[in-house]
Amino acid sequence: MPSASHPTSELVPGAPRHVAIIMDGNGRWATQRGRPRLFGHHAGAKRVREIVEACPDFGVEYLTIFAFSTENWKRTQVEVAGLMSLFRRYITKETRALKAEGVRVRFIGDRVKLDDKLIKLMNDLEQETELNTRVHLTIALNYGGRDEVARATQRLAHDVAAGLLDPDDVDEETLPRYLDTHVLPDPDLVIRTSGEARISNFLLWQSAYAEYEFIDTLWPDFSKAEFGELCASFGCRDRRFGAVKT
Ligand code: FPP
Repeated sequence: MPSASHPTSELVPGAPRHVAIIMDGNGRWATQRGRPRLFGHHAGAKRVREIVEACPDFGVEYLTIFAFSTENWKRTQVEVAGLMSLFRRYITKETRALKAEGVRVRFIGDRVKLDDKLIKLMNDLEQETELNTRVHLTIALNYGGRDEVARATQRLAHDVAAGLLDPDDVDEETLPRYLDTHVLPDPDLVIRTSGEARISNFLLWQSAYAEYEFIDTLWPDFSKAEFGELCASFGCRDRRFGAVKT
């Protein structure tokens, strides 16, 4: 039931306008090959480009990917440092292609804990792609849904204390304006690779009415063809948003 508040893609009728992906399984993919976990993350990063480039073919206007969670700091120092270095390299290496492909990049998550060099690369990439409209790529980096809601609530509370917001006016339209995702539509389809059926603190508020696909494929093996199949089968879902079909 597409409606004004839940439009589907303008490019391909019935396609998900916004797809969010939990890119899981890099570690297992590497272990299966007798390689260190970071080898899997590097393979996973290559997969990101193919999926971003495929978005217009399947009518996907917004793609949000979970690159590093607020909980991922609990991994070994070697893995965390390797991932941070991978993010820096990815941004440096991919900027030109992202610009050429018309991709607008945004980052969500708390930047405070990230190193200055990475923060600068993120800010620069956001600025350099801000006029692009072909694909809206959002990278969740040091992101956690609960952390995001807590930070949003803190900002909202400051506005109340400053007299900018009346507590009686706070409703479910108010909080999203304070979320990191405030300029994005809600995700229509959330995909998690690697056979785990959980959402791991990803887009908790925004996914209230998303459709979910939990697939066995490990992220480095996720292909454009499989992405296309999931987008196509989304068109067959009966989305009612709590209403009854008449
Ligand atoms: C989860 O797999 C994956 C991550 C925590 C990192 C995701 C990062 C990438 C796909 C690479 C780069 C991304 C960008 C944007 C450049 P896991 O390590 O938990 O796998 P496992 O469950 O098999 O151990």
